Amino acid sequence: MKRKTLTQFLIEQQRKEEALPAQLRLLIEIVARACKAISHTINKGALGGNLGSLDSENVQGEVQKKLDVLANEFLIDANEWGGHLAAMASEEMDTIHRIPNRYPKGEYLLVYDPIDGSSNIDVDLSVGTIFSVLEAPADASGREIREEDFLQPGTRQVAAGYAIYGPQTLLILTVGTGVYEFTLDREMGSWVLSDERLRVPETSAEFAINMSNQRHWDAPMQRYVDECLAGKTGPRGKDFNMRWTASMVADIHRILKRGGIFMYPWDKRKPDVPGKLRLMYEANPMGFLMEQAGGVATTGYARILDVQPEKLHQRVSVIMGSREEVETVAAYHREA
Ligand code: AHG
Ligand code: MN
Ligand code: MN
Ligand code: MN
Repeated sequence: MKRKTLTQFLIEQQRKEEALPAQLRLLIEIVARACKAISHTINKGALGGNLGSLDSENVQGEVQKKLDVLANEFLIDANEWGGHLAAMASEEMDTIHRIPNRYPKGEYLLVYDPIDGSSNIDVDLSVGTIFSVLEAPADASGREIREEDFLQPGTRQVAAGYAIYGPQTLLILTVGTGVYEFTLDREMGSWVLSDERLRVPETSAEFAINMSNQRHWDAPMQRYVDECLAGKTGPRGKDFNMRWTASMVADIHRILKRGGIFMYPWDKRKPDVPGKLRLMYEANPMGFLMEQAGGVATTGYARILDVQPEKLHQRVSVIMGSREEVETVAAYHREA
């Protein structure tokens, strides 16, 4: 097999008519390099002394794992000096991180979830790193970047992806020209193209949701899942299977590869909070990948990528995956 590395792939993208800018190529390579370092640290597990929790909480009130904080630092250290970023933001930082004055600045904004699925770290299940890239607004040049500069809808993303640290370490990437998968070759230390133009099957009979929250959902969600559970003799006329990993990366990765629907809907326990997952560094990058692979991503009422963020750590209701299933859920929301 002729191997194509991430570097080769990105250079080819740079030479295309709709050329990938050189700074964006550099940014993606640096994020991918940080993910390699995160992968090695996760692999060492207890031997590296990096498992377990800290005493600290992040801005969303979650107890931080040692790896949440370490991975966040890896991404800062890798990206700060490169000259391609104006600022970054992450799940594990209260507010934005500006590039220190000792480094040159670039025009991109990086938003990331350093470790997604952190509750799975200590039990050796797949976790990942999710990232999204935006351009700094044109009027931001020559002044300090502000949090408002990040508040752009997902349609403005110029790249997005995730690394998944599972049985294999993979990087899934889109720069708006389809979805590509790279596998980490540990001996060579390089990312090698292993699947391209990923397509989410249009139909599926597999759903992913935390069923323990069922009694808290609203009517359209209750209806959809009840109908899945009713199986072949129910209104949907097919038997469904259920999977829930509690790592969004793992659930979304399965869906990108073999189809299905992922849902983390709003629920009654916190009527004023639109959902659990975060718009800027979970829903938007995954929504961009999903659409680039032919799938659909909605809040139930609106396309996720169209949601105008009002806060950096804003939460959102998430329903995404195979077209037929997501459109069924969206129709139930419209009818309700
Ligand atoms: P994070 O570990 O970055 O805070 O994200 C956790 C998210 C997501 O990965 C997953 O789909 C969901 O939380 C799981 O939530 P439950 O524990 O409520 O099932
Ligand atoms: Mn978290
Ligand atoms: Mn997450
Ligand atoms: Mn996280």
